[in-house]
Amino acid sequence: MKLITIIGARPQFIKAAPFSEEFRKKNIEILVHTGQHYDANMSDIFFDELGIPKPDYNLGVGSGSHGKQTACMLEGIEEIILKEKPDGLLVYGDTNSTLAGALAASKLHIPVYHVEAGLRSYNKLMPEEQNRILTDHISDILLCPTETAVSNLKKEGVVSGVVNTGDIMYDTVLRNIEIANQKYGNGVWFDEIVRENGEIIKLRENEYYLATVHRAENTDNQEKLLNIFKAFSDLDKPVLLPLHPRTKKLIEGLEVDLKNIIIVKPVGYLLMLYLISNAYMVVTDSGGLQKEAYFLKTPCTTLRDQTEWVETLENCWNVLSQIDVEEIKTKVQRELTCIKYPQPKSFGEGNAALKICEAIIDGGKINE
Ligand code: UD1
Ligand code: UDP
Repeated sequence: MKLITIIGARPQFIKAAPFSEEFRKKNIEILVHTGQHYDANMSDIFFDELGIPKPDYNLGVGSGSHGKQTACMLEGIEEIILKEKPDGLLVYGDTNSTLAGALAASKLHIPVYHVEAGLRSYNKLMPEEQNRILTDHISDILLCPTETAVSNLKKEGVVSGVVNTGDIMYDTVLRNIEIANQKYGNGVWFDEIVRENGEIIKLRENEYYLATVHRAENTDNQEKLLNIFKAFSDLDKPVLLPLHPRTKKLIEGLEVDLKNIIIVKPVGYLLMLYLISNAYMVVTDSGGLQKEAYFLKTPCTTLRDQTEWVETLENCWNVLSQIDVEEIKTKVQRELTCIKYPQPKSFGEGNAALKICEAIIDGGKINE
């Protein structure tokens, strides 16, 4: 089978790693990088660390408005499909790269396979919600990470080609956590943290909050962004913040309170796994990070009104917080009752890559 796979943004590299390895054992994969993320620490580092094959094409679309960015990808992907004549095209998640890939293939009557299908926040103002609803409705095989995702699709009348494969990010965590522990396990990194301003400081394991912030609904609203930083600066433990370039750009020129906040550049995946598993808590608006915190049994506070990953809310492993200074502080500094409770296996067994391959090759008939 010859498949085109579309990747472009940081979380897609992490999802692609186990699938590419599995699929290439017996099939041909043409890997297309749209270039949505392009800084070395948002792209190349993941290829190096996770052994992802070098992309066959890089469209180099870069940043831009939603319309311009998606249109450039659409044009580039269409050309590649016409040239390569694949048997199918696979997309991951809910970014503009996902939608562009799905749309280009669907219009050319090439089967579309969507990994992480069926996720919903039921907030249509989110670009991700728009991308995932549109992608799901033009996909031929819908590869769901959870039973919730399967039932979300059913509510929209989408039942054909729907398969629960488990979560592919769980595969990546399981394959890499020991490697991460071996690489960073002596804790030296915590003694030599270099702040953005060049200052070297020290942190202690389990005595810091690990935070990330990049979601448009939080960063594009100046009041919300300032509230997040104000809450972080008032917390009872230091906040380690590997800062997404979008957020970095948006705080430039703002009077942001940085007391208690250690801003570092985005880090690689292995270091991120190590930082998650050694944090007292993860505080984030990222989709992927909520799950990784859960997989690594680190409590999480999510800086959003909704989450697509509702399974993580059970027993308060993950708690949602609106963007209000006092609410964030209260939720983050809550008593951690969750650690008494075991976690159900809602995200599968860590063999999603294999199940996705089987479902694609089988034409999505596994569950029919
Ligand atoms: C995108 C996805 C989001 C995903 C996130 C993962 C969409 C609509 N959004 O958001 O769902 O959670 O990726 O991180 O697809 N930038 C750089 N260097 C880079 C990449 C981005 O400087 O390598 C800056 C640019 O100023 C750019 C901004 O970040 O304008 C936003 O990048 P973009 O890819 O448009 O959206 P993300 O916020 O990264
Ligand atoms: N990540 C990383 N380094 C960082 C921040 C995040 O390796 O500095 C990883 C994180 O562990 C997860 C993925 O990037 O695997 C999540 O990406 P992001 O938060 O950008 O996107 P989302 O999941 O919200 O779409």
